[in-house]
Amino acid sequence: MTPRGRAGARLAAVVAAALSGAPACGRLPAALDARGPGAADIAGLFWLFLALTVVPGAATIAVLLLAVRGKRRRRTLADVRPGDGHGWIVAGTLVTAGVLAALLVASVRAGSRAAAPSGPAELTIDVRGHQFWWEVRYPDHQVVTANEVHIPVGRPVRLRLSSADVIHSFWVPELHGKRDMIPGETNVLWVQADRAGVYRGSCAEFCGVQHALMAFELVAEPPGALAAWLRARRAPSAPPSDDHGRRGLEVYVAAGCAHCHAIQGVVPPSATGSVGPDLTHVASRRTLAAATLPNNRGYLAGWVLNPQHHKPGSRMPPVTLAPDSLMALLDYLEGLR
Ligand code: CUA
Repeated sequence: MTPRGRAGARLAAVVAAALSGAPACGRLPAALDARGPGAADIAGLFWLFLALTVVPGAATIAVLLLAVRGKRRRRTLADVRPGDGHGWIVAGTLVTAGVLAALLVASVRAGSRAAAPSGPAELTIDVRGHQFWWEVRYPDHQVVTANEVHIPVGRPVRLRLSSADVIHSFWVPELHGKRDMIPGETNVLWVQADRAGVYRGSCAEFCGVQHALMAFELVAEPPGALAAWLRARRAPSAPPSDDHGRRGLEVYVAAGCAHCHAIQGVVPPSATGSVGPDLTHVASRRTLAAATLPNNRGYLAGWVLNPQHHKPGSRMPPVTLAPDSLMALLDYLEGLR
């Protein structure tokens, strides 16, 4: 094969890989696979921009090709008269101005809809970004959790977004656009999920070494299920009643966990505030380490002993524990439902 042939084959392979990779999972990118009015608006705007830029662009190239290749009568400069093609210039200018005006109107409308609530707030949730996890509070329900946001399906929810340290950005691509979380500011984002389900969210602003592993899950569920979830999360944890449980709590305090992680009803939030996630109901959560690890005993043990292995640069230091202390601690944590 000639060098040119090889380069062509390589290009064809790259294009084939790109084409097969994009829809391989049978879905559009999450931001275009809208499951709520906010994302639907943004996806609609994307397709409109694509159509109104690609179609005129392709038409221009087609006309150019026709002009270059067409067997037209040869004209010289002497044949050109003042005013020739004037109509085409006016028409082209008007069409271009019309397309730009349409895009401007569409994007301003989508922008104002994105900022406005889609109805009265069903629920207000405070989400605070930390390096590298999410503190989630339901101020009307005295519930605090982490890395998991539960909302009622089909209802508008007001999120008040803030940050404890650096700038983060809250993003659930299937539900809405990104909204920055800025220290000292509270930004509001209205989200609504039209279908029940679990939506992955992530931090969309580089915030440090573990930015890529700063994720969360947004669970949209029927109002009844949400009310039950809130009721269960509101209950403080009861202090352990048997020796094994008490031993687990002793390890929790002795190993230093209590400096950063509160357990309502047992370990009050430390003077330093919410350094690490509140663990009152940690065993009921779907994931560990901000949607990085599945929440099971093996990963919990690995995370407690060596968080820097899973998330180098996270704020949690490694903990050294004797096997029986670790087992007591794991039993205690797994009981926090
Ligand atoms: Cu937080 Cu990126």
